[in-house]
Amino acid sequence: MTRTPQAAAAEAATELRSRTGVDAYDVALVMGSGWAPAADLLGDSTHEFPAADLPGFLPPGVAGHSGTVRSISDGDRHILAFLGRTHLYEGHGTDAVVHGVRTAVAAGARTVVLTNAAGGINPAYPVGSAVLIADHINMTAQSPLTGATFVDLSDTYSGELRALARSVAPELPEGVYAAMPGPHFETPAEIRMLRSMGADLVGMSTALEAIAVREAGARVLGLSLVTNVAAGLEGADLDHEKVLTTGRDAAGTVGRLLTDIVAKL
Ligand code: 6GU
Repeated sequence: MTRTPQAAAAEAATELRSRTGVDAYDVALVMGSGWAPAADLLGDSTHEFPAADLPGFLPPGVAGHSGTVRSISDGDRHILAFLGRTHLYEGHGTDAVVHGVRTAVAAGARTVVLTNAAGGINPAYPVGSAVLIADHINMTAQSPLTGATFVDLSDTYSGELRALARSVAPELPEGVYAAMPGPHFETPAEIRMLRSMGADLVGMSTALEAIAVREAGARVLGLSLVTNVAAGLEGADLDHEKVLTTGRDAAGTVGRLLTDIVAKL
């Protein structure tokens, strides 16, 4: 019998524990585009190494290798941060996309914070704003689950955690995130379709990870940084550089926001 992805994650978690000396993490975060600098504010970094040092992560040199893993201590709390993630469009399949979050839950994390850069569909969320993900629409036509795993996704982005986040940041808006396969951005017609379906944000990550976290029994908090307006809504061209510069500009603000929220989790 071939090894299950859960067994692969358990193996990675064992190696993570032995490298960091942390028996159980409290919280794990996946830092998407624009969010990585915020990790510096979360506490004292005790260990950081390439994710590929752990079993099952994509080796460096492979397109979209998984970045680094940082072990952070904040008082008596243990925080795990993945700086970078694997995207579905890299072509390594859904197991590669969710291996990090599965490893985090296997290493004890009961709460996983998923962050990303997103295009804004709802004009109420201007470029540079952080938006709490209230729900998602998975447009990838994929699932990280196989077999009879009929996971309940009705509270995927924990209402309790969202309330907690808003207790820290009362002005934080909420929105629905549409997860597209990418790697191309959408056409204006696709954005009109997503808007009519009820999406406020569009991106290429997060949804599959959220599903895997729910299946593993932990809670999800999702945060998007709006780095650009989605296609056709403003007449401006879309490019990846814009996504990255907006992320850099907003780093301080979203970093403080994230730190305040994580302190309460
Ligand atoms: Cl406009 N679309 C997608 N799919 N991902 C994005 C984005 C847009 N902006 C940032 N990430």
